[in-house]
Amino acid sequence: MAKEVEYKSAGLNVRRLQPALGAEVTDVDFTQPVSEEQKAALRQALLDHGVLVFRDQDISRDQYIDFAMIFAKTKENPFVQWKDQPEPIEGYPELLTVISEFKDGKVYAAADVWHTDDVMSTKPTAITILRSYYVPSIGGDTVFSSAVAAYEGLDEETKAEIEDLEIVYARHLSEDRKDSKNYVPSLFTQPPVAHPAVQIHPETGQRLLFVNETASGPFVGHEGDRWDALREKLAQEFKRPEYQCRIGWKPNSIVIWDNALVQHRAVPDYDEPRYLERMTLTAAEQPTNAAGTRSRRWEPEPA
Ligand SMILES: [Fe+2]
Repeated sequence: MAKEVEYKSAGLNVRRLQPALGAEVTDVDFTQPVSEEQKAALRQALLDHGVLVFRDQDISRDQYIDFAMIFAKTKENPFVQWKDQPEPIEGYPELLTVISEFKDGKVYAAADVWHTDDVMSTKPTAITILRSYYVPSIGGDTVFSSAVAAYEGLDEETKAEIEDLEIVYARHLSEDRKDSKNYVPSLFTQPPVAHPAVQIHPETGQRLLFVNETASGPFVGHEGDRWDALREKLAQEFKRPEYQCRIGWKPNSIVIWDNALVQHRAVPDYDEPRYLERMTLTAAEQPTNAAGTRSRRWEPEPA
């Protein structure tokens, strides 16, 4: 309850969406200046809840960047820059356009699997932010799942088994989307990376499970031949509804998430146009496990 008091003293109303994660923040207007106390409370709220949603924020692009700066992790190059995107926004290389595309009347979504943004980087983005302009009248939600709950729910034997493992990601989310309006070469052409399967969050110190269903394996350091089944079992944990929250879109919504604390997934169930602008904030350092092993480029052992 102490946290609730802190938020209130900063003038914020933080309403939890689900027990495991997610909160909606009201009583704040990002077209107006935000106090330092409010900024600190917003950063804390994101760490406490993993995902925050703000409604009715009819902000300009400059105000959107000011909002993102509240959560910046690094002074130099706080934003990932998107110079090679198909539909750049002039003067705003920080903004990535997210445009829905349809094939045979059905939305064609790159992100309809459980994933972590920028997972092929040795330093995945710390925070992702989406701001909506127009959205379908129904459908097109984004679903989030807690990496902390997914870890904590494992049995002790599995926790011990995976504590020091690294997992390899070698397959891009959208390799088959080279003709897409959302294809960004720098996102989709990185070589394989090995991430610690159990990471320590750099700010909260919590252990979190970092195994996506997009991981192609193997587990580095895992003896035996059942790594495929283990990866599948761990990725499935994120599909438990009690670890999730689901956020529906309205125009002028901002959704922000900590990319280590949660995984997310798009729901491709709509057939009307949707347009959002995304920003991603650079992480201060590469992810690490408790033993100090950090994310790194990976090459298979010669046979
Ligand atoms: Fe994503």
